[in-house]
Amino acid sequence: MPYGVHAPMDSVQPARPDAPRDPGPRQTRLQKLPRRHDTVLARSDARNPQVCCVGFVSDTDIKTPRGRVSPLSGRLGSRPVIDEPINIADFERVAAEKLEAGVLGYFAGGACDEVTLRDNVEGWQRWRLRPRMLVDVSAVETSAQVLGAEVSMPILVAPVAYQRLADSEGEVGMARAAAAAGTVMCLSTLATARPSEVAAEAPAGRRWFQLYCFNDKAVTRALMDEAIESGFEAIVVTVDAPPGGRRERDLRTGFKIPEGLGVPSVQAALGVDREVTIEETFSLMDPALSWSDIEDLASDCSVPVLVKGVLTAEDAVLAVEHAAAGIVVSNHGGRQLDCVLASADALPEVVDAVEGRAAVLVDGGVRHGTDVAIALALGADAVLVGRPALWGLAAAGEEGARRVLELLRDELELALALCGCTSPAELSRAHVQRAPGASVYSV
Ligand SMILES: Cc1cc2nc3c(=O)[nH]c(=O)nc-3n(C[C@H](O)[C@H](O)[C@H](O)COP(=O)(O)O)c2cc1C
Repeated sequence: MPYGVHAPMDSVQPARPDAPRDPGPRQTRLQKLPRRHDTVLARSDARNPQVCCVGFVSDTDIKTPRGRVSPLSGRLGSRPVIDEPINIADFERVAAEKLEAGVLGYFAGGACDEVTLRDNVEGWQRWRLRPRMLVDVSAVETSAQVLGAEVSMPILVAPVAYQRLADSEGEVGMARAAAAAGTVMCLSTLATARPSEVAAEAPAGRRWFQLYCFNDKAVTRALMDEAIESGFEAIVVTVDAPPGGRRERDLRTGFKIPEGLGVPSVQAALGVDREVTIEETFSLMDPALSWSDIEDLASDCSVPVLVKGVLTAEDAVLAVEHAAAGIVVSNHGGRQLDCVLASADALPEVVDAVEGRAAVLVDGGVRHGTDVAIALALGADAVLVGRPALWGLAAAGEEGARRVLELLRDELELALALCGCTSPAELSRAHVQRAPGASVYSV
């Protein structure tokens, strides 16, 4: 088995005959392969026990196959246990080892019992691809059009708050990573860097701004204005918060955003020179926001306005009727209302209701190129990834986030080729069906 291949647990032999089949998380078994005389390193994933990560490491040389020890390598004692992360789950493990428990809980956690958090990932697995054979796929491209502009892949970076908790460069590193990968980064209102700072520090990239709407419309306007003047190309209004969801992991760890990490864009929009906390920011947001506010905002905005957090056909129609240029099917990564539909289950009804009148994007649980392919086949124009890019950033800063994005692009390219498609635009509903036994929605 070549380096970096996923293997079902069954195909990996225990190191000793009496060793347990599944040693649980972070335990590693070594096994001699009779033919290749390489050492196989297998690490089981407790959250996904069917899958383990496998890599080869020479008995005498701890260098990677490319002749260097990767900064992303995990280690068992003094020996590397895996060369480099080969999938998003690997990046998550590396990030989890680096992050302090409270921060990890803040990033990884969802609301209440985390039903939707889990379901988001599983939702994509309730669909199956229908590949077509004997199509010339000698040239496959991943580039796509989103809101009339080209991106290198229909995989964008979702707005995620407080990225300096993951890496000292925070949103600036993430913006540079997205730029290097040729895609869009969406900056959160709750970012630890202002739109103008991100634009100055990562000038090459394309950026959207995620907007929370405030009771004081002048504050909302000031936030939008700074982003648009800084070259941000779209405004994404998040409508599934406030109030913030009940995150039980944070309650258990007692996690609080540390002092010194304010919300500089809100501070500037309020015109104050003291640090603005997340609690104050949420208390100033408008809980009475309505569809007419979205229409007012869109009609007075020089860039497209998208609505993020739609999960029903009814709201998708309202978004189109109130001038939204795009919809992001999203449940905030399972962090707001628990027990709502997984994004993968909500997507088809939104696509059908929109009937091509607005762009439809989706986020939540996208972890593989095949998830992206399924989303596109169901009619999404693009997906966004939140935690995957964050795990990359936490694992190895800008480089880690870039590698996550490149990994997803490579996986999408492979999925396209194996589906018999030469570009994302060729994926259609004919390429997807409900998995046998899955019942929520059929096309
Ligand atoms: C730690 C964290 C912070 C987030 N902050 C925001 C935010 O400030 N604004 C927003 O609209 N969405 C926010 N989101 C939601 C993401 O934009 C996105 O919807 C979600 O992460 C997608 O799910 P995924 O993480 O499974 O890819 C946040 C998500 C996480 C994990």
